Amino acid sequence: MTVQTIPAAPAVALDDLSRVYKTRAGSVHALRGVSHAFGAGTFTAIMGPSGSGKSTLLQLAAGLDVPSGGRVSIGGTDLGRLKATALTTFRRTSMAFVFQSYNLLDALTAFDNVALPARLAGRPVDRAAVLDALDQVGLRDLARRRPPELSGGQQQRVAIARAIHSRPDVLFADEPTGALDRTTGRDVLALLRRVADDGQSVVMVTHDPLAASYADETLFLADGRIVGRLQNADAAAIAQRMSELEDR
Ligand SMILES: Nc1ncnc2c1ncn2[C@@H]1O[C@H](COP(=O)(O)OP(=O)(O)OP(=O)(O)O)[C@@H](O)[C@H]1O
Ligand SMILES: [Mg+2]
Repeated sequence: MTVQTIPAAPAVALDDLSRVYKTRAGSVHALRGVSHAFGAGTFTAIMGPSGSGKSTLLQLAAGLDVPSGGRVSIGGTDLGRLKATALTTFRRTSMAFVFQSYNLLDALTAFDNVALPARLAGRPVDRAAVLDALDQVGLRDLARRRPPELSGGQQQRVAIARAIHSRPDVLFADEPTGALDRTTGRDVLALLRRVADDGQSVVMVTHDPLAASYADETLFLADGRIVGRLQNADAAAIAQRMSELEDR
C-alpha cells in the first residue's frame, strides 16, 4: 500500500490576480493576471520598472488591498473568503509587512514599536525577544528612542525588527534596504535570508540586483505581468535581465 501525503499548501498562492485602479482620468491596469506560488522557507525577490505593479502585487498578497479579479491564498486560506475582522486577525497571526515608508508610530519607542503587533494580537510581550529582534538589526542600544529621534535607515531597521519579532509565516517587504548603506543593507539581507532558511517565507520588492541575489528566485514584472523568472541568480545576471526589460 502506498502512503498518500497531502502536499502542503504554498505559503502564498496568487491565482490569476488582477487589479484595476479607477481614476478620474480612466482605468489603470496595474496587474493583469498574475499567478505564482511562493513556497514555505523560500525567499523571493520581485523586480521590475517603476509602475510595473510590484507594490500593488505585494499589497494584494498581504491582504492590504482587494483584487479586481483572481485569488490570494495564504497557507491554503483564501483571503477573499474572510470577513474584515477575521482578515485582520489572520493577518496579525500569519503575516508581517515592512513598508517602504516604515509606518512606525512616532509616539512609541523603538522597543514599543517592535512589541506592538504582539500587544495588538493579545500576546504577552517577551522583553528579551523584543531586544533580540532589535539586536539582530543592530539597534539594541537605541531601543528607548522614538522614530523622530532615529535616522531613516534606523527607522527602516526598527520596521524590520518589528516584522521578524512577530515570527510570521510570510514576511512581505517593500524596498527594505532602500534607505540603508551597503554594509547595513547586507546585514538586513542576510537576516531575511536566515528568516527564510528558518522556514518562514520572504517576499521582497527591490530595485537592487545585489539585494535580489540573496533570494532563491527573482520574478520580473513589466506592465502588470510576470515576464521572467531567474533562480539562484547572481547580481550580474539579475542586472542584465533588468536592463533587457527596461530597454523593451
Ligand atoms: N491608488 C492608485 N490609483 C491609481 N493608480 C495607481 C494607484 N496605485 C498605483 N497606481 C498605478 O498602478 C501602476 C502600478 O503601481 P505600483 O505602485 O504597483 O508600481 P511599482 O512597480 O511598485 O512602482 P515603483 O517601483 O515606482 O514603486 C502604476 O501605473 C501606478 O501609477
Ligand atoms: Mg512600489
